[in-house]
Amino acid sequence: TWTPGNIIDDQVAAIREQVGDKQVICGLSGGVDSAVAAALVHKAIGDQLTCVFVDHGLLRAGEAEQVEKDYVAATGIRLKVVDAADTFLGHLAGVTDPEQKRKIIGREFIRAFEGAARELDAERHIEFLVQGTLYPDVVESGGGTGTANIKSHHNVGGLPDDLQFALIEPLRTLFKDEVRALGSALGLPDEMVHRHPFPGPGLAIRIIGAVDRERLDLLRAADLIAREELTAAGLDRDVWQFPVVLLADVRSVGVQGDGRTYGHPVVLRPVSSEDAMTADWSRLPYDVIAKISTRITNEVREVNRVVLDVTSKPPGTIEWE
Ligand code: XMP
Repeated sequence: TWTPGNIIDDQVAAIREQVGDKQVICGLSGGVDSAVAAALVHKAIGDQLTCVFVDHGLLRAGEAEQVEKDYVAATGIRLKVVDAADTFLGHLAGVTDPEQKRKIIGREFIRAFEGAARELDAERHIEFLVQGTLYPDVVESGGGTGTANIKSHHNVGGLPDDLQFALIEPLRTLFKDEVRALGSALGLPDEMVHRHPFPGPGLAIRIIGAVDRERLDLLRAADLIAREELTAAGLDRDVWQFPVVLLADVRSVGVQGDGRTYGHPVVLRPVSSEDAMTADWSRLPYDVIAKISTRITNEVREVNRVVLDVTSKPPGTIEWE
């Protein structure tokens, strides 16, 4: 019978057998899959694992700290942090096209990860790379093994020939809810285990227009309010994802405090879904939406209007870019 304990025991034995006394690397994204995969491998081989977290500066409020502090505290994993925000934002400056943003972020991510992997490899020869591939990912990509294909930029593929690792994929047979159960059994923080899916390119594709620090700070503040109120209403598990989108190049007239303002709108995009292939807009209670709207326009200077996206997928995608 399936229990988290059984799976953990089986995987720990299998990983020990596969790895022996060799060294292993794993990239953390802040998401559930890589966090659980790494925790599982760490349980099996302890200090032979080193994790790398590339902070691209495009995560939501508190998420980088969650990886760097809470996750490390919960697991005792050795973590190498690459603070690459300046590099990413430099390359993203002035870029508005969504696919261009993705291309830049994907390229820079691999560059940053590769740099960190090279440094580590020089210290302690690395032979294995952990990936948080799930069963649905395996099915989607045709069930092949042994190659690191790039589903998102966080699944590190495209490493150069002189830096090839054998793969460890301890979640290959599991579905998301099973991975969450494993994460809890391994003692990971709840906020991490039940985190909503979040796109690899992060907030860059939730700013409609060019990305800069000021816009990121605005969006982070609005997004945090939406998340806080959803949690306060006890609705986290009712919603698949809740993008908050900044229409950075749109301005509208408003009246805030003493006077007329000319600020930006944000869009609330809460959706219900099973697998992100199709989705419906979440019928959140009006009082929750009202609270979010009031708080955002009170607390986030520059945002004077909050709108609700009532489009299903199809025809709308979940993200706006
Ligand atoms: P859409 O917007 O296509 O999103 O309905 C479907 C799911 O995919 C996520 N998403 C991404 N994830 N890199 C990712 O890792 C991306 O470039 C990307 N674009 C969309 C989105 O958040 C949703 O869960």
